[in-house]
Amino acid sequence: MPTTISMSIQLHIHPSIDAAIKKVAQEIITLIHHKPDAVLGLATGSTPIPLYQELVRRFKLGEVSFKQVTTFNLDEYQCIDRTHPESYWNFMHRHFFNHVDMLASRIHLPGSRVEPLELARHCQEYEDQIKAVGGIDYQILGIGRTGHIGFNEPGSPMDCRTRRIHLDEITRQDAAPAFGDLLHVPTHAITMGCGTILEAKHISLLAFGSKKAAIVREAMLGPITDQISASFLQKHPSAAFHLDHGSAAELS
Ligand code: F6R
Repeated sequence: MPTTISMSIQLHIHPSIDAAIKKVAQEIITLIHHKPDAVLGLATGSTPIPLYQELVRRFKLGEVSFKQVTTFNLDEYQCIDRTHPESYWNFMHRHFFNHVDMLASRIHLPGSRVEPLELARHCQEYEDQIKAVGGIDYQILGIGRTGHIGFNEPGSPMDCRTRRIHLDEITRQDAAPAFGDLLHVPTHAITMGCGTILEAKHISLLAFGSKKAAIVREAMLGPITDQISASFLQKHPSAAFHLDHGSAAELS
């Protein structure tokens, strides 16, 4: 059984990554059973891949349909085509959308080649689209080594909205293996803002492995600071961290 202790962020330390994934997938499926037109906020990166695999597995078993579900992804790299293997549009289709019954019209990601003159309108439109469907019911998050949620790098204010951001060098280094080398990693992305994310009705942050232990401790137990955007989750009324023993190692 996962350990749950009471504090501002709900803490779930699971016996394995698989157990964490199964729990979060079940929460999402239960939500969709109660609200077939649920609005999901989705993350990319290596952490949620097994979650998408589990949701696809449950879909193939006939246990859930995504036909009426609407999704908004957190972020997208800039200055690459969306068909680029590392674009988040491509990632999401490869790992999830292509394998379930999602309607293309209900899938939302920021554009990957947004012209400077279009930027403000594009970002406002993303915010408006989220509002138009009644906001995000369930937001999945990972956490970067800089403490970012979405791509809200250090210095992002708690009330910031969807916008273009310069990626931190640590974030770019972490992405370098996927792109072949650092030179090929985009320097900018469009990300939902901290304020946008914090408006989600429920937030589940997933973090696995000892490499995340230090930043998980800072985010959960450290001061609420714009240097670690995940620390803003301490202020959210319904935020949960789903960890394994590795990522929870520094919490005691
Ligand atoms: C991805 C995103 C990022 C990642 C974070 C962790 O859409 O917004 O915040 O969740 O960089 O990435 P992984 O899971 O690869 O460690």
